[in-house]
Amino acid sequence: MTTTEPFPAAASHPARPIRTFHPRRGRMSGRQTAALEQLWPVYGLRVDDAAPFDPVSLFGRQAPLVLEIGSGMGDTTVAMAAADPDRDYLAVEVHTPGIANLLDLAQLRGLRNVRVAEGDALDLVRLMPPDALDAIHIFFPDPWPKSRHHKRRLIQPPHVALLRSRLAVGGTLHCATDWAEYAESMRITLDGDPGLVNRYDGYAPRPAHRPVTRFERRALAAGRPIADLLYARRGPLLTPGV
Ligand SMILES: C[S@@+](CC[C@H](N)C(=O)[O-])C[C@H]1O[C@@H](n2cnc3c(N)ncnc32)[C@H](O)[C@@H]1O
Repeated sequence: MTTTEPFPAAASHPARPIRTFHPRRGRMSGRQTAALEQLWPVYGLRVDDAAPFDPVSLFGRQAPLVLEIGSGMGDTTVAMAAADPDRDYLAVEVHTPGIANLLDLAQLRGLRNVRVAEGDALDLVRLMPPDALDAIHIFFPDPWPKSRHHKRRLIQPPHVALLRSRLAVGGTLHCATDWAEYAESMRITLDGDPGLVNRYDGYAPRPAHRPVTRFERRALAAGRPIADLLYARRGPLLTPGV
């Protein structure tokens, strides 16, 4: 095992935004180190270098684009991309071993429709034009359980407004969490966004296309039920007579 930090730390910023992730160092296996060295130059994208955002040159084709925010070890991204070859999957993560693991898994399955971005997902989304995304997946985001940390949560009104603005009309925002209080807060926040509509009445039934990950199995074993939330971007609100 080696400790590596191949991506340079973000430059210090006078008005540093509140981040939704824990800074953490990564220990990588030899396999992950090799995957990062060999595959990053082909399949990786640094958020700092992502402008102008050009998915056609990133994937080498024009296809509906799914963004997965906080892909962790990449197992969900890879399983969903493998089952859905007509759409492209862009994962974004800050955790280097997770990025390396995703690259390794995608290579093992010979996937051509997966890329991974390193950096803050919110910065990446800001670079995207309106309507760029067919779907956004946010599975088990850090719950930040202490009240004083709620400002770090991914699902909060300004972030949701940003994410929704990059979804195409009819596109899906799919969140899942094992943290009951965060699930309720997500539902209130998503219901409160004027540009989103819940596809279900309350929480969604567990979609079969979202694979069960180790993270989810641990939550279930600890007695924490899983909540899925599936919302669609509304069409433009038409003003009668205009
Ligand atoms: C609790 S983990 C869940 C990982 C994975 N989705 C799963 O289900 O196993 C949350 C992940 O989101 C990542 N994350 C949080 N905020 C992020 C952001 N703004 N940009 C990119 N990644 C982020 C963290 O680094 C962490 O790996």
